[in-house]
Amino acid sequence: MSPSKQEHDEEEQAFLSPGPAPNDAVWSRKSTTSRKATRYLRLALEIAMAIVIGLFVANTVREKSQVKPSPVPKLPRKTYTFLPDPQYVSEDMLFDEQDTLHTLHSWIPLSADARGYVQIPDHDSYDILNEPYTVPINRTTDGPAYMMAVFHQLHCLSYIVNHYQQGYAGTELTEEVAHHSSHCFDYLRQSIMCAGDTNLEGETEAGPGWGSEHECVNYDALLNWANERSAMKWRNALLPGEAIL
Ligand SMILES: *[C@@H]1O[C@H](CO)[C@@H](O)[C@H](O)[C@H]1NC(C)=O
Repeated sequence: MSPSKQEHDEEEQAFLSPGPAPNDAVWSRKSTTSRKATRYLRLALEIAMAIVIGLFVANTVREKSQVKPSPVPKLPRKTYTFLPDPQYVSEDMLFDEQDTLHTLHSWIPLSADARGYVQIPDHDSYDILNEPYTVPINRTTDGPAYMMAVFHQLHCLSYIVNHYQQGYAGTELTEEVAHHSSHCFDYLRQSIMCAGDTNLEGETEAGPGWGSEHECVNYDALLNWANERSAMKWRNALLPGEAIL
């Protein structure tokens, strides 16, 4: 018998309806039982797999449905090291108004070319967007545009630094406060850029930046995660009313 003929016969036998038992009936019965068991096991595994896939898809759809689609794509991530950077905030700038303004001037390239306004031609098709602002879109024409939140946040911080410095007129600015403030300002500047809040802000009755929906980290989930890993609890009834973070 040639190998191919033998294979053919084995195949045929496999398809044969249960016929007379071969030489060893006990062996044959065991084999049928185990084959049945295998079939049931396989069926059970297939059902389990279908359930797992179903749950995964349902979960993905549910997660997606918690956020409204945005015209801004999920942008690539990159690793940055936070370090004090005298180009943007210098330790001693707060002692001098011109020094502060000159240093804040170097923040301009950190914002987008239109100071953060971007045009979204199909803005009507996004539920998350308010009405656009009307701003100059070229030298001659005003048109619809949105403010990207990260640039609004950088502007606010720059504004606060400027007027914080001015507010010290007549008040003694100690080294500690000057350096601590500078540290916080530079740290916040880098944090704002790191978080890169790309939500788009439009025109609302509530005022600039207000009334716009932002897709954000779920802050309750964030707090829960941190609290589950809390070091010694600081907040308690004994905390004086004037305590701040
Ligand atoms: C300014 O934009 C408007 C609207 O897109 C366009 O019609 C016009 O030609 C533009 N003007 C210049 C000077 O680019």
